[in-house]
Parts: sequence; C-alpha cells; structure tokens
Amino acid sequence: MRILVTGGAGFIGSNFIHYLFKHYSDLVVVNLDKLTYAGNLANLLDIEKKYKNSKYFFIHGDIANRELVAAILEQYQLEVIVNFAAESHVDRSIFNAYPFVQTNVVGTQNLLECAKKAKIQKFIHISTDEVYGSLGKEGKFSESTPLAPNSPYSASKAGADFLCRSYFKTYGFPVIITRCSNNYGPFQFPEKLIPLTFLRAMKDEPIPVYGQGENVRDWIFVEDHCYGIDLAMQRGKPGAIYNFGGNAEKKNIEVVKAILDFLGKPHSLITFVKDRPGHDFRYAMDFSYAQKELGFSPRISFEKGLEITLKWYQNNLDWISQIQSGEYLTFMETWYGK
Ligand code: NAD
Ligand code: TYD
Repeated sequence: MRILVTGGAGFIGSNFIHYLFKHYSDLVVVNLDKLTYAGNLANLLDIEKKYKNSKYFFIHGDIANRELVAAILEQYQLEVIVNFAAESHVDRSIFNAYPFVQTNVVGTQNLLECAKKAKIQKFIHISTDEVYGSLGKEGKFSESTPLAPNSPYSASKAGADFLCRSYFKTYGFPVIITRCSNNYGPFQFPEKLIPLTFLRAMKDEPIPVYGQGENVRDWIFVEDHCYGIDLAMQRGKPGAIYNFGGNAEKKNIEVVKAILDFLGKPHSLITFVKDRPGHDFRYAMDFSYAQKELGFSPRISFEKGLEITLKWYQNNLDWISQIQSGEYLTFMETWYGK
C-alpha cells in the first residue's frame, strides 16, 4: 500500500501513521503537512527513526499547493490518499475563519483535482459529526441527516464534504467520506477540552467551562477512529459516507470532573465562563451503517481511554512544554480571557 497522509503531523493524523506501521508491513507512507501551530514532528519521532526515507517520507507543504501535490503524487506513485489536513479548532474559526476556508475548502478541492488527474484509487476524506449541526436532548445523527453546520469550522468541513460528493457524482472519482465524533488520546493539542483541562489542572489553574457545562459530546478514543478509517480504506464503497462514534455521550462538566478526580485536583478549579457563540448543544452518532457495512464498533470504553490518555500526558510533560509556543499562548490569553 502506498499512501499519502495529509496533516500527518497533527493529532489524529500522527496516531493514524502509528496505527498503519503497527498493522501493516508492506507500506509506504508520505506525510504532507504544513506544520501549522497544530502540526508537530515530535509526534512521529519513533516512526522517523525506524522508517525515514525508506517507508516513511515527510514533506513540508500545503495541500492547496497544486504543483507540489501533483509532483508528490507522481514521484511516489501513490495509490491512496487519506486527508486529515485541516484547521480543526472551533474557537479559532470564530476568531478568524479565513484559514479554515483556505485549507479545509480550497485545499481539499486542490487535493481532489490533483488526485483525480493522478488516477488515485481511493481518496478517504476525514470529516466530522459537526457538519450535521446540533441535536436536542434526543436522537442521533445518521449519514442521511441533512447538513446544518453552525460554526465557520463545521461550515468549511461541510463545504469540503460537498466537494468530495461532487467529485464522485460528476467524475466518478472514488471518494469515501468518514464523519467521526469528538476524539481524544495521545498527541492532542492542548486547546481541545480534554488536554486543556489536564494541563490547567496540573498547574492548579482555573478550568474554563463554557456556559454551564451541560453541552454533550460523544467521545471516541483516537485509536478506535483510526481503526474505522482503516476499515473504510480497506472495505469502503466509493461514494459512501460512514459515521463513526464512541457510544460515550458525556456532558462537558462530567468530563472535566472525571479528569480532576483522576488527578486528585479539587472541583473548585472549575470556572464557568461566557458561552461559545453558536455553541452546538449535543452531538451523538448513529454508526449502525459502518457497523453493518464495515464491521466497525468502538473497542475502548471512555473510562479506559481517558485513563490511557491522562497517563500518556503525565508521562509526556516535555511534549506539552515544548509546544507552549508564543502563538499558542497569545491566542489562549485573548480568547475568553483564559
Ligand atoms: P489537528 O489540528 O491536530 O491537525 C491538523 C494537521 O493538519 C496539523 O498537523 C497541521 O499542520 C496540518 N495542516 C493544516 N493546514 C494544512 C495545509 N494547508 N496543508 C497541509 N497540512 C495542513 O487536527 P486533528 O484533530 O488531528 O483533526 C484531523 C482531521 O480530523 C481534521 O480534518 C478534522 O476536521 C477531523 N476530525 C477531528 C476530530 C477531533 O475530535 N479532533 C473529530 C472528527 C474529525
Ligand atoms: P472542543 O474540544 O473544542 O471540541 P468541539 O468544539 O469540536 O466539540 O470542545 C469540546 C466541548 O467542550 C465543547 O462543547 C466546548 C467545550 N469547551 C469548554 O467548555 N471549555 C474549553 O476551554 C474548551 C476548549 C471547550
């Protein structure tokens, strides 16, 4: 298998590259990543050490760069593309939507076009449950739920999904879309709820909980997401959409309390702050189609996954301190006064 992974230096992309090398031997992986604030080559040090320039190649670049993408596809004779590259944080998209449209929409269209010309055999586009919008207290998202994105992030992801659909319908190009719920696990950048709570709790700093912490997310351990993507890559039907979820709906306040309890920190660190504008109330995934067609179901419970994740962060404090760069801190300080 010769695979182009885009955004492979980010959270899920780097976990996916680890997953691939753990499960396959006949493999060439090219990782194309722009190394934004969220991209970190330290996520792949072990892979570089073992496979650099033999089975693993890193290219620093932008998925929106036409000449570069075309040249990579030709030079490495790639067969499959898995597109993780994206701006991924809702709060940042509220702050400045431009990079979201540029990478998530323009970048995805460029990849699709270059991939079509290069006759790529399978294009797996990694999307999100957030394209469906928000649920009330009842119900779940299925693949036929109409798209109703509410944040600039989810709107840009929905735009990319529609472009993927159009390349399948118009050109018969073999695109598969996967939509997953909230991931957590090793290597997640500490702007997202779980690593942010861990980091602040370790420093005895207030934990900012939006609104009253009643919003619900369906949490999936990142390795289970990688497993689903692998199934889609091996068995997925061109043109299909597959939902993945963790079967683990939690209120934000429950997640924050669980982390504090694990660390033996007081609940008094919880600070309710101004709500996120347009904050989606609840996400929950019906993944019965992926279960039936691909044999997918999540294998790691939230309790187990959270324990693995928090222990990983505890054992990798140097990874966290290394990414506390200027830009990250500036953004966090201006945002809701965190
Ligand atoms: P992340 O922000 O941790 O990583 C994104 C990676 O993409 C970074 O390495 C970054 O440098 C790279 N990148 C950004 N712009 C690029 C560009 N123009 N060209 C090349 N590389 C670029 O994100 P993540 O959490 O790992 O998410 C990966 C994908 O999964 C995204 O498409 C996201 O929408 C989707 N997703 C994420 C979640 C989640 O809970 N994190 C859930 C469902 C779907
Ligand atoms: P996040 O990790 O940003 O993922 P998403 O917005 O894509 O679901 O946020 C998860 C939930 O946690 C979401 O309901 C917003 C909430 N949240 C807070 O309450 N405080 C925070 O500091 C952050 C980052 C998120």
